[in-house]
Amino acid sequence: MPRTPAPVSLVSSFEPFRIGVAGLGTVGTGLVDLVQKNGDLLMRRAGRGIEIVSVSAQNRKKDRGVDLSGYEWVDDPLVMAQDPRLDVVVELIGGSEGFARALVERCLENGKAVVTANKALLAHHGQALADLSVKTGAALAFEAAVAGSIPIVKVLREAFSANKVSSVCGILNGTCNYILTEMRETGRDFADVLKDAQDKGYAESDPSFDIDGIDAAHKLALLSAIAFGVHPDFGRVHVQGIRHLSADDMDFAGKMGFRIKLLGTTRKINGRIAQSVTPCLVPADSPIGAVDGVYNAVFVESDCAGSSLLVGRGAGAAPTASAVAADLVDLARGTKMDVFGFPQTSLESAQWADAGEAVAKFYLRLNVADRSGVLADISRILHRHGVSIESMIQHARDLRGPVPLVMVFHETLQKDMEAAIKEIEMLESVDKPSCLMRIEML
Ligand SMILES: NC(=O)c1ccc[n+]([C@@H]2O[C@H](COP(=O)([O-])OP(=O)(O)OC[C@H]3O[C@@H](n4cnc5c(N)ncnc54)[C@H](OP(=O)(O)O)[C@@H]3O)[C@@H](O)[C@H]2O)c1
Repeated sequence: MPRTPAPVSLVSSFEPFRIGVAGLGTVGTGLVDLVQKNGDLLMRRAGRGIEIVSVSAQNRKKDRGVDLSGYEWVDDPLVMAQDPRLDVVVELIGGSEGFARALVERCLENGKAVVTANKALLAHHGQALADLSVKTGAALAFEAAVAGSIPIVKVLREAFSANKVSSVCGILNGTCNYILTEMRETGRDFADVLKDAQDKGYAESDPSFDIDGIDAAHKLALLSAIAFGVHPDFGRVHVQGIRHLSADDMDFAGKMGFRIKLLGTTRKINGRIAQSVTPCLVPADSPIGAVDGVYNAVFVESDCAGSSLLVGRGAGAAPTASAVAADLVDLARGTKMDVFGFPQTSLESAQWADAGEAVAKFYLRLNVADRSGVLADISRILHRHGVSIESMIQHARDLRGPVPLVMVFHETLQKDMEAAIKEIEMLESVDKPSCLMRIEML
């Protein structure tokens, strides 16, 4: 008679995967909570338990709403880099310099794996950190650094590894998307909605990183690296934020069938890469046009998979912790990826394209004196630069001051468009600043 095999325990007999968590703010406490709540699931997925050994933050006395009593408290997170009990250090302090940078460097130098959500650090020092990771063999993983819970790093690096990507375009900052959505839905101006977002905790007291497009640009530099196999270069992202947008712009865009989104775009133009973070118009009835509020979205175009859109929560405690935990499960399983999805030595120095080389349709709002001859002057300049108007909205007469004149243009070279606007803005009948936005037909 055949012998009955011994039951196989679902609980692995492997050693637990031991982690140190540096930083117990929004994401750090979110991770502690997730490990406590979903520990059994993590163990089943990873084949071994994921165990927090030590934690660190600045203020030991702060009530963080999670139970930290089972973990060792470390005042100086750099100690974690030397702790032989830890398989990985999770860096959730933030910032491109200071403690976060020192900790990640020290860990990698010591051969200790790092998981981080720190896009600022990677956008500025990703290349050097990836080199260190190769040198010592220590893993460096950062799914949570780009678009929170949307697994775009994994998708580009693994699921789309057989695809030649032509562009990646995304709503990469939830704060901006919330502000733009509120402006559109309520007709209120930027400053008013920003204050409201700050009161609700959707925007920082110093919101400049978000609303000036810096945060999105950090993420975009990382997306370029993974999509195209190039060294990340934050300095080559053309960045414009959303401060200058008016309630009128939201209104006009809507009337023309568009919505305004702050888009991070990296695309190949004749073999060169153009990176930009700028407010753009997208068709209101397109999938990305429907992504509102604090949600993020990433649209990828590639040769085999075609067009793909991923939508999800780009920030917040649980969504970001979810992405951090996914990296932890990978490492606990023994899966280690090249930092940017290509062997480090095969990463290329990109040929960067100038933003002006992009060909697109454009939206332009001018504030013009309401008198005869103005439109003829503007048309003459546009014609001289080879820019042709597709549609136009002219506001009702107002003899007291300038009125908005809104135009949408057929496809044209961005640098021709910009040259025309420069000349138009010199007309005595046109008030500065005007507002130019690319139209992305996603
Ligand atoms: N928040 C999000 O939704 C989100 C989304 C995606 C990515 N990220 C990234 O995740 C990282 C963390 O963001 P967060 O929002 O969680 O930041 P946070 O709420 O400001 O938390 C930062 C934590 O770091 C601790 N800290 C600061 N300096 C320290 C030091 N020298 N030693 C030890 N701990 C120190 C702080 O301690 P105290 O609490 O004692 O002050 C705090 O617990 C950042 O890189 C951020 O860009 C955040």
